[in-house]
Amino acid sequence: MNFNFSSLHLNFRPITLSDKQLYVGLYTNPKVMQFIAKPLSDDYAEKLFEAQLKPWNISSKHFLNLVISEKESGQAIGVCGLITRNHLSKQAEVGMVFLPVFHGKGYGTEALTRLSQFAFEELGYNKLWGPPFLENKASIRIMEKSGYIREATLRQNQFLNGKYHDTPLYTLLKEECTYLD
Ligand SMILES: CC(C)(COP(=O)(O)OP(=O)(O)OC[C@H]1O[C@@H](n2cnc3c(N)ncnc32)[C@H](O)[C@@H]1OP(=O)(O)O)[C@@H](O)C(=O)NCCC(=O)NCCS
Repeated sequence: MNFNFSSLHLNFRPITLSDKQLYVGLYTNPKVMQFIAKPLSDDYAEKLFEAQLKPWNISSKHFLNLVISEKESGQAIGVCGLITRNHLSKQAEVGMVFLPVFHGKGYGTEALTRLSQFAFEELGYNKLWGPPFLENKASIRIMEKSGYIREATLRQNQFLNGKYHDTPLYTLLKEECTYLD
């Protein structure tokens, strides 16, 4: 399976051993992790990174991790990916993390739109979803701009900063996705 594709400003490719510094830098960064979890320690992030390098297919229990780079500069800006949550009904959870210097440039929306298209058209999923933290306005906004709708509230779904938080569940169905070829 070919996991290399592109959008207007971005290239997507599978994560490799040479991306360790990017991956560890993202998951140990307090700003990036603000609405996800406590920033990881360097040691833990390095261990987690190694687990991301395993070959992936739709039956895998781990994330498909794709490195996103800016076409113009060639610079890696972050990692996006998805994980199968229900194989039978073809559902996956999507996610992405960008280096703070690249936030707010429209790349999150562009990446989520392209990743969703790839997931429906090339990977055969029928439903995609994400449970962003309620205060993660950027994450909620890119889901809305990519056509995801708020389907439900997951009660006490995330444990962060010492307490449980409800999170909205944003979903997109293949049949309602307006940007498929
Ligand atoms: C979430 C993330 C991927 C978004 O990427 P991005 O490139 O910044 O997103 P975009 O520039 O395409 O869009 C961001 C939108 O959120 C809006 N936004 C950002 N911060 C906001 C805030 N505090 N309040 C209201 N809106 C906000 C922007 O105005 C923009 O919307 P607009 O185009 O309508 O003006 C990026 O911020 C990130 O990596 N965050 C840290 C990791 C993370 O939380 N990942 C998601 C986990 S669920």
